Amino acid sequence: MTFNPLRERGIPLDEQVRTWRELAVMPVDPDESDPYTRCRIITMNGIETEAIFFSHHMARHCPDLEMRQQLARVRYIEAQQQKAVNWLLPGLASVLETTITYEQVAVDLTAWVARMEPDPYLKQAYQFGVLEDFDHLYRYANLYEMIEHRKAEKIVDGLTEVMPGRPTYLQHRNPVDNVRQNYDKDATAPISKLHALTIMSAEQQTMNFYMNVGPLYMEPIARQLYQEIGMVEEEHVTHYESLVDPGETWWEMLLNHEYNECYLYHSFMETESDPRIKAIWELHLNMELEHLRLAAEAFKRHDGRDPEQVLAPALPAPVTFEPNKAYVRELLATQIDYTTIGTGYVQEAHERFEAMQRAVLDDEKAASEVIISENAMKSGHEYRLETEGPHPVPSLRMNRPT
Ligand SMILES: [Fe+2]
Ligand SMILES: [Fe+2]
Ligand SMILES: [Fe+2]
Ligand SMILES: [Fe+2]
Repeated sequence: MTFNPLRERGIPLDEQVRTWRELAVMPVDPDESDPYTRCRIITMNGIETEAIFFSHHMARHCPDLEMRQQLARVRYIEAQQQKAVNWLLPGLASVLETTITYEQVAVDLTAWVARMEPDPYLKQAYQFGVLEDFDHLYRYANLYEMIEHRKAEKIVDGLTEVMPGRPTYLQHRNPVDNVRQNYDKDATAPISKLHALTIMSAEQQTMNFYMNVGPLYMEPIARQLYQEIGMVEEEHVTHYESLVDPGETWWEMLLNHEYNECYLYHSFMETESDPRIKAIWELHLNMELEHLRLAAEAFKRHDGRDPEQVLAPALPAPVTFEPNKAYVRELLATQIDYTTIGTGYVQEAHERFEAMQRAVLDDEKAASEVIISENAMKSGHEYRLETEGPHPVPSLRMNRPT
C-alpha cells in the first residue's frame, strides 16, 4: 500500500505540545532491548537535532516575522520530540557503550543506503564512507575492552561484525578532498535527496556527540581517540553535506526536511520490534504530517511551486536496520585502499594526501593504532568479532590465541 504523506492528516499543531510528564519517557533496557531499536533511537535523535538546527538557521535568514513565528512554533515541537527520543537511551549505558551504538548506526544505516541508492556517484560516496565508520567501531570496541573490561558483542549482539576497516589513521585527508560533487535537485530521484539528508544528519550528530563527550574521559588514550575520530566525523559531515544541492531554496529545504522526518518515522513504525517504541514513532509521524503540511503551504506561498513537483509521489520502501555483513565484506575486499582526490576516488596515496598525513601524524603513531596494541597487551589479544570467517583482506587477518 502506498502512503503519500502530503495526503494524510496529522495532529493539529496546537495539540502537539506535551507536558513534562509526557516527556519523561521510560528508557529502554540496555541489556534486553533490540540493538536495532537503540540504532533507530540514535538515528531519530540525529534527525530531530538536524530539524532544530536547520530551523534556527532558516529563522536567522528569514525577514518575514510571521514565518519566523511559525518556525518557532514548529521548532518547539521538534525540540520536544528530540527530548522524548534521545531520553529513551538508558542512563545505565556508559558513554562508550552509546558510542559503539553510534558507530553501529553509521555502519548499518550507511550500508543499507548504499545498497538502495540508485545514483552510482552517490552510491560510491556511501560505500566509501561506510568502511571508515566500520573501522571506528573496531577502535572503540578495543577501547571498551581495555577500560571497561567488557566486550562489544554484548552491544552489537552479533548483528554487525567488528574488525578493521580502512584504518582510521589513513582517513585524515586534505579537507579539499572531502568535498563531493552535489546532486542536481531537478534531475535526481527523490529517494536520493532523502538518503543524503539522512546520512548527513546522522554524521552531524555523531560529530557533535564526540566533540562533547571526548573530554569527559580521564584516560589520555580515550581522550585522544575521541579527538582523532571526532576529526574524521568532521570530514564525514563535509563529505555527505556536499552531496546535497546547495541551489535548493530555504522553502524547498524545509519541505525536504519535514518530508524526510515523515519518511523515517513511517519506516521505523513499520519495522520496530518494541511495541512501546513503535507507538512513539507513530505519534511523531502524526506530528510530522502537520509540520509537512505547514511547510508545503509555505513552499506554495513563497516559492510559487507545487510540492508534488519536488517530492516523491509516495514514500519509498522503509529504511530498514538489518545486518549488512556480506555487503560490507565485499566492500572491504574491493575498496579498502581507496582515498579521495578532488571530487573523485583513487587507489594510491597522492601528494596532497601524503602532505596531510605528515601534517597531522608527524611520524608518530595515531591513537587509533595505539589503542589496538595497548589492548592486545592488556587483554592478551586485540578485540574482534568476526562472525562470518576470517577478514576478507588477507593482510588484515590475525592469529588469535583461543
Ligand atoms: Fe521532528
Ligand atoms: Fe564514525
Ligand atoms: Fe562517520
Ligand atoms: Fe518536523
